[in-house]
Amino acid sequence: MALPSHGSNPHYLYESLNLSQPEQFIDFSANLNPFGPPPALQEKWTEAYELITTYPDPNASSLTSKLATQCHVEENQLLVGNGGAELITLIGRFLAGGRVCIVQPAFSEYEAACRSAGCDLIDHTLKDGEWQLDPEHLIEKMDHLDAIFLCTPNNPTGVVYERDSMMALLRESEKRNCFLILDEAFVDFLSDDATYAQAIPTFSKLIILRSLTKMYAIPGLRLGYMIAHSGIISSIKALQPHWSVNALALIAGELCIDQEDHMTKTCELIEKERRKLHQFFKENNYIHSTSSVNFYLLKDLNLDDQTPLLRFLMTNGIVPRHTENFPGLEGRWLRFAIRTKDENRTLMEVLGKWRR
Ligand SMILES: Cc1ncc(COP(=O)(O)O)c(C=O)c1O
Repeated sequence: MALPSHGSNPHYLYESLNLSQPEQFIDFSANLNPFGPPPALQEKWTEAYELITTYPDPNASSLTSKLATQCHVEENQLLVGNGGAELITLIGRFLAGGRVCIVQPAFSEYEAACRSAGCDLIDHTLKDGEWQLDPEHLIEKMDHLDAIFLCTPNNPTGVVYERDSMMALLRESEKRNCFLILDEAFVDFLSDDATYAQAIPTFSKLIILRSLTKMYAIPGLRLGYMIAHSGIISSIKALQPHWSVNALALIAGELCIDQEDHMTKTCELIEKERRKLHQFFKENNYIHSTSSVNFYLLKDLNLDDQTPLLRFLMTNGIVPRHTENFPGLEGRWLRFAIRTKDENRTLMEVLGKWRR
């Protein structure tokens, strides 16, 4: 059985590795807020129940208006979707048959969406271990491209690309008529405001993707949005099924984006835990990516293929994300979410056991 193409749903990974699933395990394979959803969401749930008896607003008007205000864009520059994943699929269809470059390693759905829309794909793979953007090489390719997919903060490395490099790419994409799709699914986990949303009015080829499922730990509800010039938004909305976003997701989104304390508390925890983990990795000879967000890549330098470590961890109730299907990584790293203090401590104990 092939390894699953995404994190979460760990039983698939246990099954594909032919390992029995221990009674207790910790899922480090999905990059979600370790605190879970904001507590206020649970309080709202009984009230929200009655919403399932009517069709949701097909225009997601109320949430769109709130998000547009938060992002300082016009309402017609924003489209709410059934998770970032739906919007990626729609962007693939918007680019149908075009020539698209994916800056790798990156979220695998860009490739899946573009492939199913008949796009001609090329990879631009960043240097292993550093994963820093090399804008001049990417710019050289732009004249022959219709679009570039770029994920910052990057999944799976957690690396944030330098602002100067990003601005150079933005300017050149405008000049060379090449869409630049920036996936900011994890931008909420950065302590500094690192979004490029403010560049939307200036750059007509820029498309920004956001997800609400990571910071607010609501992947089961499916909720994301995109920001771009109004012409792009209306073309992509025309491809979206009616009532694509359900009523519970819409109400949850409105509530979640007001929970600033939850977000601040989360970023503080992540920062603190990341420092502890880095110290442990240094002392125990593990190499990690220079991530600025809530997950990181890790490897045991003594192994080229990390499968033996993956199997050991899974047997001991720790579920990482394998990297076999990330071009540029091909199983040479494992990805871990930063979870609660106790869960990270358990991870360090098991990694310590592997060393012994
Ligand atoms: C980089 C990135 N973008 C987008 C998504 C899609 O997120 P969702 O569909 O849950 O909003 C994911 C999910 O893992 C992701 O990692």
